[in-house]
Amino acid sequence: MRINDHTERNIIDLFRLEGRRVLITGGNKGLGRVMAEALAEAGADVAIVSRTLADCQTAAAEIARSTGRRTAAFRADMTIAADIERLRSEIEADFGPIDILVNNAGINIRGAIQDLQESDWDAVIDANVKGPFLCARAFGMGMIARGWGRVINLGSIFSVISMAGRTPYASSKAAIGGLTRTLALEWATKGVTVNSICPGPFATDMNRQLLNDPVKYQDFVARIPMGRWGDLHEIAGVVVFLASDAASYVTGTELFVDGGWTAQ
Ligand SMILES: NC(=O)c1ccc[n+]([C@@H]2O[C@H](COP(=O)([O-])OP(=O)(O)OC[C@H]3O[C@@H](n4cnc5c(N)ncnc54)[C@H](OP(=O)(O)O)[C@@H]3O)[C@@H](O)[C@H]2O)c1
Repeated sequence: MRINDHTERNIIDLFRLEGRRVLITGGNKGLGRVMAEALAEAGADVAIVSRTLADCQTAAAEIARSTGRRTAAFRADMTIAADIERLRSEIEADFGPIDILVNNAGINIRGAIQDLQESDWDAVIDANVKGPFLCARAFGMGMIARGWGRVINLGSIFSVISMAGRTPYASSKAAIGGLTRTLALEWATKGVTVNSICPGPFATDMNRQLLNDPVKYQDFVARIPMGRWGDLHEIAGVVVFLASDAASYVTGTELFVDGGWTAQ
């Protein structure tokens, strides 16, 4: 099949990311690690950042080996504005300008509201909302100047539904919906799209508590129409799509990867 536009590119070619540079926050493990590898397999060069440089270096080296792409590792804390500014300078000097930003780093602190501290609220909101805001601001300006860019935020099913014991997390992920829609509108004519991926439950460190509790694990399974948790690789195609030219007319939206949970 031919795409009937000026590029005359085959449909599969629209998904290719050769010549693009990605920054993925929290790309050293969990969903971020899988997405980092997928983006490199699709042809992008990939920079990984988290608070743990050694883990980022290991992931970057493994991904370079398995995909043949150029990778790089950086250390920064997404809750600290000065760290993000330093990161932007380091990346632009050592890796190059970023075309695709994946705001994936995040945390969850669970508990009934009366058991949560103000510091719990601040920690979750800072990592899950302030970090993506600061990163989008730091890297989006370069995308606008070059006329092409992608910002992909990690929301959650908790962007639109919730469960007891999730006040900071669900509030933070709902805010990601607002951040995504607002930036999409600000940048709609600039060649920069902004979308979120909203996963259901995947077996990562973030869900260790649930994975280690058979009752809670089964409670989740019972809520999922497909009757199972997501396999980590099932996030890969979604991020490549949103990062690519195949998604050129997709902006301001939330793409749910949840086995049907939020369809109910
Ligand atoms: N797993 C799920 O079921 C699920 C469902 C819905 C949404 N999500 C979202 O998907 C994203 C990834 O989740 P995951 O399950 O893969 O989590 P994970 O395995 O716990 O990984 C979290 C990542 O974020 C990084 N990180 C956390 N705080 C940071 C900070 N202040 N600065 C820089 N990096 C930071 C961590 O690296 P360091 O510790 O080295 O800094 C780590 O790489 C999150 O936004 C999460 O909310 C996950």
